[in-house]
Amino acid sequence: MQTPNPSPQSESAPQPFAQFAAACARRVNRQLERVLPEDSIIPGRLHEAMRYATFNGGKRVRPLLVYASGLAVGGRLEDLDPAACAVELIHSYSLVHDDLPAMDDDDLRRGQPTCHRAYDEATAVLVGDALQSMAFELLGRPDPHLATEVQLEMVRILAQASGSRGMAGGQALDIGAVGERMSLPELEDMHIHKTGALIRASVRLGALASGAGKSTLHQLDHYAKAIGLAFQVQDDILDVTTDTHTLGKTQGKDEAANKPTYTSLLGLEGARQKATELLEEALDALAGLGQEAEHLRNLAHYVVERSH
Ligand code: IPE
Ligand code: IPE
Ligand code: MG
Ligand code: MG
Ligand code: MG
Repeated sequence: MQTPNPSPQSESAPQPFAQFAAACARRVNRQLERVLPEDSIIPGRLHEAMRYATFNGGKRVRPLLVYASGLAVGGRLEDLDPAACAVELIHSYSLVHDDLPAMDDDDLRRGQPTCHRAYDEATAVLVGDALQSMAFELLGRPDPHLATEVQLEMVRILAQASGSRGMAGGQALDIGAVGERMSLPELEDMHIHKTGALIRASVRLGALASGAGKSTLHQLDHYAKAIGLAFQVQDDILDVTTDTHTLGKTQGKDEAANKPTYTSLLGLEGARQKATELLEEALDALAGLGQEAEHLRNLAHYVVERSH
C-alpha cells in the first residue's frame, strides 16, 4: 500500500507486464480502501463483511483490463479508477453469491472461508447487494474529467453486463445446467454471459473513459470477447488440473456438481486447444494498435497461461 502510483506513461521504456499488473492491483486496492466504509460505521458487521469479501487476495484482472484498455487508447490512470473499482466490486459481489449454498455451495474462496461461512448467509446476500450498489454509485459520482453522457453510457454498459442479459443471466444458465447435457454452442453462450460479459465491459469502460473512437472500440471489443470466453475456459481447466491450495478455491467442484464445462465437453486437450485459439483471436483483434496495447497483449497471454 505504500508503493507510489504506477505511471507507465511517464516512463520512456515500457514497463514490464508483471510490474504493471502488480502496480494496478495496488492502485485499485488503495481506491477500494477509500470507498468501502469502515466497520466502525453502522451497520458494522455488514461493512466488515464487505471488506472481507473484497480484500481477500483477488487477482484484480478486471481492473487491470480497465487500466490496460484505457492506456492502450492514450488514457490516464487517474481517470480510470472509478471504473476499475466498479468492475471489481461487481465481480466480488458475484463471487459471494456464486459461493452461496443455493448456488455452488463453496467453503473456500481466495484461500479463505467464503463470505457466508465467515459470516452467515443473510449477511453474504446483503454483501453482494451492497457491493453491487456501490459499483454504480462510483460510476455515477460527478467527475470533472468525464462528460455526463459518457458516464451515463458507462453506467448502462455495466448494468447490462451484470444483469439478466449478462453475468446474472449466465449464472442462471449455469444453475439450470446442473446435471444436464449441453451442446458446445450452449456452453459457449453460458460462459460468454456468466464471465465474458463483465470482462468485455471492463475493456469497454476503460476505453470509453479514455475517449476511444468508434473503430478502436470495435477492435477492443473483439479482443475482449475472445479473452472473456478464454478466461472461463481456463477456469474450467484449472478446476480439473490445479490443487485447492494453489487455486484458493475447492478443486474439482464442477465435476462434483455435475456441471457441463469445457473440459467435460471437449476433454482437457480440447479445452486447452480452445483457449489457444481464443488467445490467437484476441491478439489478432489488436493488430494495428501500437506499443500502447502491449499490456493488453500480455494480459491475453496471462488469461490462458495463469495457474490460478
Ligand atoms: C473467478 O474469477 C470466477 C470466474 C468468473 C471464472 P477470478 O479468477 O478472476 O477470481 P479472483 O478475483 O482472482 O479471485
Ligand atoms: C463463476 O463461475 C462466474 C461468476 C459469475 C462468479 P464459477 O462458479 O466457475 O467460478 P468459481 O470457479 O467458483 O470461481
Ligand atoms: Mg458458479
Ligand atoms: Mg463457483
Ligand atoms: Mg469455476
